[in-house]
Amino acid sequence: MATFRDILNYYRPYHLLSIVSIIGASIFEILDLVVPYAIGQILNILSGQDLDKPLQNLVDGIAALTQSQDERFLSLAVLLVIIFLVTVARAPFQPWIGGWWYHWAIPLKARRNQSEKALEKILTLPLDFYDEHNPGRIAGRVTKGIANHTWTYPEVAGQLIPKLVRVLGIFVVIWFIEWRIAILFLVSFVLILSFSIKHLKQLIFHEERLDRYQENTESRTSEIVTNIKTVKAFATEAVELERQRQRLNRELKVILYRLHLGYIKLGTWQKTVIDVCVFSLLSLTLFATVQGKISLGHFVTTLTVSTMAYSEMEPLNDLAELFARRYASMQRFHEFMEQPAGKDAAGIVLTPTHRATSYQFTGKVEFNHVGFSYDARYPVLKDIQLLIEPYQTVALVGRSGSGKSTLVKLLFRYFEPNQGHILIDGVDIRNLDITGYRQRLAIVHQEVDVFNGTLLDNITYGNRKASFEKVEEACRIARVDEMIEQLPQGYYTVVGERGMRLSGGQRQRLGIARALLVEPDVLVFDEATSSLDYESERSIQLAMQSIQGTRTTIIIAHRLSTVRDADKIVVLDQGRIAEVGNHAELLCQKGIYRRLHALQETGELL
Ligand SMILES: Nc1ncnc2c1ncn2[C@@H]1O[C@H](COP(=O)(O)OP(=O)(O)OP(=O)(O)O)[C@@H](O)[C@H]1O
Ligand SMILES: [Mg+2]
Repeated sequence: MATFRDILNYYRPYHLLSIVSIIGASIFEILDLVVPYAIGQILNILSGQDLDKPLQNLVDGIAALTQSQDERFLSLAVLLVIIFLVTVARAPFQPWIGGWWYHWAIPLKARRNQSEKALEKILTLPLDFYDEHNPGRIAGRVTKGIANHTWTYPEVAGQLIPKLVRVLGIFVVIWFIEWRIAILFLVSFVLILSFSIKHLKQLIFHEERLDRYQENTESRTSEIVTNIKTVKAFATEAVELERQRQRLNRELKVILYRLHLGYIKLGTWQKTVIDVCVFSLLSLTLFATVQGKISLGHFVTTLTVSTMAYSEMEPLNDLAELFARRYASMQRFHEFMEQPAGKDAAGIVLTPTHRATSYQFTGKVEFNHVGFSYDARYPVLKDIQLLIEPYQTVALVGRSGSGKSTLVKLLFRYFEPNQGHILIDGVDIRNLDITGYRQRLAIVHQEVDVFNGTLLDNITYGNRKASFEKVEEACRIARVDEMIEQLPQGYYTVVGERGMRLSGGQRQRLGIARALLVEPDVLVFDEATSSLDYESERSIQLAMQSIQGTRTTIIIAHRLSTVRDADKIVVLDQGRIAEVGNHAELLCQKGIYRRLHALQETGELL
């Protein structure tokens, strides 16, 4: 659970600078009080009343030094100099000493740091987090959280706190003039503040609700955009629109209620209390002046500074409300940042200076009594015992959901086995540097991700240093070379979001070229040929044949024609290895493989 402390820690390396700049800003707020005080003293001089003691001492001191005779003139000159210093002379220093510069520099620097940290988090979260969370929601939470931290800082450090300090200063000034008036001032302030705080708590509660609603609406919108094909195909536009309409209405209700609470209920109450207080203060001060308890100058000073304080009340309240409004979103950002990193993050050090250990494997892979479950109640893999010799090609076949992809995920260390262990060249993969280890593996998924950029960028994604000859060779083996050569810009054709669209088969062959280019010791195809037409599939099969024997290869396939040449075919059934052997051996076994084979070849169930 995120706390207020997390919000403070967001600006961590700048705490000292923050304190200094807040003190600077507060000093300037206090200096503002000097003007009404000095004007009050000028009035005292003009109306023939006494100056305040400390000021009188200062004037006497200067008079002694300068041997000036005209005390009235000297007093006025001293007061004018003071006013000049705190108004005109301070202007060039204010952005620096008053912290203005830092109130912006600190949150902007923190924004850069935290954006980097958030990306680090996104990169190291376990894969299953992304199975459960919508990408739009994650991105929204991060950007909104960071933006709110950035905007809130200058308001709190540059305004809210210094203005509260100023109110405190005003209290002290009035206290020295007439303590009874100061007490009235204090009581009114405590009253207004306590009422505001009670309301702020309610506001935070509603804000959290609103934030949740908004996140739901936004993530649904982003889902609609990503799944627009399905929406159109099922003609559910009206349904989607209606659902979003209801959500927007629900949001609007909360927003209106919040406005009512903040501006109308709280605002009206506050204004009434303030008006009553200003009136009482005016009466009390006037009464004290008439009775001769305070001078005319003090009357003016008290009225001016207390009006200053009360006029600050509304902006202060707005600032507090703004903070409350953003608080919920800031908390949600920290909740995201507190997500435990995946097991695979253990070895991923995201610093530019970090060098992953380089490995070179022969590619002997052993699954040693491996058991695994995503959810403790449903074991997905049970007692997997499998040895893959170097340079062997092994095929994994079996029904959908039998655990083939999961087995590969364990090999890539996206998850760790609950029982048993996985060895590569006789070493437990848990003991290896994860980045270095993964760099020796490559996988081609059914859905190949294409980044925005040129074909060359996409092919060399895993190995930026590859020579152009190597790229061409990989493309030849993966059979994308012909397609690329036909394009006017060849390897420099822009693909992805803002470029050429690739067909499913083209993407897959691009994925294979990308995987080959890293020259992995273990190469995995997870249904890599499933969205290809017969001809392309055949050409990929030829590609696979040319890879066969050059490195350890694991092929997951539903179409048995893809795997018949494999050295070893492993049939998985409900998380267990049911049969192992080559194509001919398995056909003789009269088991699952033979049944599947007959079904695919003849369309008949044996
Ligand atoms: N991230 C996950 N969280 C929870 N359960 C999962 C997760 N991924 C897969 N499963 C479950 O684990 C089981 C095995 O899934 P897996 O993806 O390994 O099957 P598969 O053999 O690759 O199937 P297919 O041939 O359809 O790709 C399935 O029952 C699936 O529901
Ligand atoms: Mg699968």
